Amino acid sequence: MKKTTHFGYQQVDANEKAGRVAEVFHSVASKYDVMNDFMSMGIHRLWKRYTIDISGVRPGHKVLDLAGGTGDLAKAFSKKVGATGEVVLSDINASMLSEGRSRMLDAGVANNMRFVQANAEALPFPDNTFNCVTMAFGLRNVTDKDAALRSIYRVLKPGGRLLVLEFSRPTNSLFRKIYDEYSFRVIPKVGEAVTGDRDSYQYLVESIRMHPDQDTLKGMMEEAGFDRSDYINLTNGVVAIHRGFKL
Ligand SMILES: C[S@@+](CC[C@H](N)C(=O)[O-])C[C@H]1O[C@@H](n2cnc3c(N)ncnc32)[C@H](O)[C@@H]1O
Repeated sequence: MKKTTHFGYQQVDANEKAGRVAEVFHSVASKYDVMNDFMSMGIHRLWKRYTIDISGVRPGHKVLDLAGGTGDLAKAFSKKVGATGEVVLSDINASMLSEGRSRMLDAGVANNMRFVQANAEALPFPDNTFNCVTMAFGLRNVTDKDAALRSIYRVLKPGGRLLVLEFSRPTNSLFRKIYDEYSFRVIPKVGEAVTGDRDSYQYLVESIRMHPDQDTLKGMMEEAGFDRSDYINLTNGVVAIHRGFKL
């Protein structure tokens, strides 16, 4: 029997999902940053700053920013790890990675960076390579999330940590209703106005609803081997930072 999975609210053949996700990010790559600011009213910058603050990354560390796209996290990590460290900005999508690479070169932070096109489900790095792996707003798009978590666990050094920053389930039911109205009525329209692509932003809001909630993802991280797995809700659980360690 054919294996199926969700692409937003649509049920698709599991082999098709990565291609459909790729179309979304090829389409929005050049307008990705400006849309993030519009949709979140700039708040995504605070969520990312908090992620960096709790990363434990120090000079000399090796960091993998997975599904790193245009490189907001990678840029900050480049400064933290310094000349003796290394940041790998990695993404499955050539258009997003190319935007990221240009931004890093323009910002003058590419000296201690590598750019690697890779699928999170099968990372092309040796075991025990990184002190920290981050994945911001990426896991939601991955077809086999369990395979991705196992792959991340493998490439972390013992003592290393994973931080997954991802949309999640708001904790307050009234707030959830208002947020749903905003998401479904406003975001696809703004997406269409800014990028000319309504469907990609319809996918965005649907994919958020299909993503595992806080406790489910915590359990998946434990299942993949992570120790001391926990999460921190931000903005009432609109997003959560999941954290886990490799012992
Ligand atoms: C919403 S963007 C996030 C970009 C960046 N991390 C940020 O926070 O601004 C999601 C990214 O995940 C990437 N992605 C989707 N599926 C992936 C996979 N299986 N492996 C690696 N990256 C993937 C997409 O290409 C896209 O660049």
